[in-house]
Amino acid sequence: MTVSPTTIVRRRVQIDFGTVPPGPWFPAGGWIEVVFNAASISFPLAERFGIDALRDCRARIQDPKLLKEIGGFLHQEAMHDRVHTACNDMLARHNPRVIRAERVSARIFRLLSRTPLAFRLSVSAGMEHVAALLAEVVLQRDNELHDVLPAPVADLWVWHAVEETEHKAVCFDVHAAAVGTGFLAYINRVFGMLIATPLFLLVMLGIGAAVQGSPRPAPAKPPAPAPAIDGQPPDRISGRNILGVLRAAIPWRQYFSYYRPSFHPWEHDNSHLVTDWKARNPHFGLSPYSSASTDRVPDPEPSAAPVRA
Ligand SMILES: [Fe+2]
Ligand SMILES: [Fe+2]
Repeated sequence: MTVSPTTIVRRRVQIDFGTVPPGPWFPAGGWIEVVFNAASISFPLAERFGIDALRDCRARIQDPKLLKEIGGFLHQEAMHDRVHTACNDMLARHNPRVIRAERVSARIFRLLSRTPLAFRLSVSAGMEHVAALLAEVVLQRDNELHDVLPAPVADLWVWHAVEETEHKAVCFDVHAAAVGTGFLAYINRVFGMLIATPLFLLVMLGIGAAVQGSPRPAPAKPPAPAPAIDGQPPDRISGRNILGVLRAAIPWRQYFSYYRPSFHPWEHDNSHLVTDWKARNPHFGLSPYSSASTDRVPDPEPSAAPVRA
């Protein structure tokens, strides 16, 4: 097990989405807003899937350090679930199609939750790798996102990206500890990723297609121009071309490194992005706990509602 260069911090986060105006807030009709919203709609279900897998195999883990990291992972994912659910309430108020999209993805995750634990762990490890890749893209564009997105939405994504980076190796290490590191365990890990990738893309595209195109109120002010990503012109990124968005936004080389038998999430050390964010936001999610050990922050439970399903 590679030593993680980050600490999994237990933050308490509440974000008020009541100030987010209805109507498109990213370049009108653009796929980036659709992708962000589709991700938010699917995340509470994905987070609960990962939470259940780790809870179910916690009894098999002996290593006290890994047990502590599992505790941090469960705390962070439950908090993401709660805040994304609040964000999705706002999205559903603006666009009723969100509710139908949630129901469809809930059905998919319900089916997956009936599969064997080793498989659920490998799918979770795969989804965590994809989440960590996207998190890096978000953290590299923290300032641009805060320029373009409504502040609560930008805060949500950047904070979530920080924590996805902090805990990016936990599912992978739990899979290694509970399933093993031999050939069959490697096959199981790769198989999980081969399911997680199309699942992730299909759920995102399905939700995106379901919620896009419904009539929405006009924005109070014209949406800001899209930022360029990796030199791609904004038009390419902002819309009309989902493949361009996926090609530009996902570091595919890092994605494919997961299929190497010797892969570990921290072989790509991007912890400086977390360190930089912490330096800029030293109290985010910690007040009024900032003077206490963050380990004393009580663990949240995932939001109880089955996402209007
Ligand atoms: Fe998360
Ligand atoms: Fe995660």
